Amino acid sequence: MTPYRIETERLVVRCYDPEDAPLLKDAVDRSLDHLRPWMPWTPDQPEPLDDVYERLRDFRAQYDRDENHIMGVFAPDESRLLGGTGLHPRQGEGGLEIGYWIAADATGRGYATELAGVLTRVGFACFEIDRVEIRVDPANERSERVPQKLGFTKEATLRRRLPSKSGSDLRDANIWAMFRSALAGSPAEQYDYTAYDALGRALP
Ligand SMILES: CC(C)(COP(=O)(O)OP(=O)(O)OC[C@H]1O[C@@H](n2cnc3c(N)ncnc32)[C@H](O)[C@@H]1OP(=O)(O)O)[C@@H](O)C(=O)NCCC(=O)NCCS
Repeated sequence: MTPYRIETERLVVRCYDPEDAPLLKDAVDRSLDHLRPWMPWTPDQPEPLDDVYERLRDFRAQYDRDENHIMGVFAPDESRLLGGTGLHPRQGEGGLEIGYWIAADATGRGYATELAGVLTRVGFACFEIDRVEIRVDPANERSERVPQKLGFTKEATLRRRLPSKSGSDLRDANIWAMFRSALAGSPAEQYDYTAYDALGRALP
């Protein structure tokens, strides 16, 4: 069952709606220098609102077709976007990859660790997968701490595997993974949440 909305005490993690465009634009515009080294999609300049709006229409369509679950991370009253995340099918069958970014002024509060812990649980609860992956540039020390703290295992370093902003200069990737059998007793299991379908019904 596809989770459309996930709530924790501090966060709402949900599929984007096109009307979130002003909140997403605001969060990214305020974070350009912070995101640029690590997120290949970071624009060089603030993007026009209409471009962000069109992207969110596309994200929403992909979500509804269960092609890619890209989500926004909101404050509980949804007045602010704190970051972005998702459960992505891009690493092949049987697995989902969690990606994440946190707005510059919302870092250092444990949000990335919390949302990655919650999405690990949601991934195993809502989808028939055996593996959750997180891929991190070894130079991204802050991000490396996230899977490490959640009990993921570092499996390998793949050379020149992460897309870069220029498109040509690929970056190395540390592959962190957790298998379904390792969730019980892991630090990730401690992150509580409630997930809802699109009709607002709580998912088991
Ligand atoms: C990496 C990122 C997601 C971390 O978000 P966050 O919400 O601040 O992360 P958390 O607060 O959950 O925890 C991060 C850990 O990094 C540590 N940390 C904070 N600043 C750090 C620094 N300058 N260097 C190394 N570690 C640092 C924190 O102490 C914490 O570890 P600890 O709890 O063991 O002390 C955020 O900085 C970000 O969005 N960066 C740009 C985009 C990006 O890199 N995305 C990830 C791509 S794989």
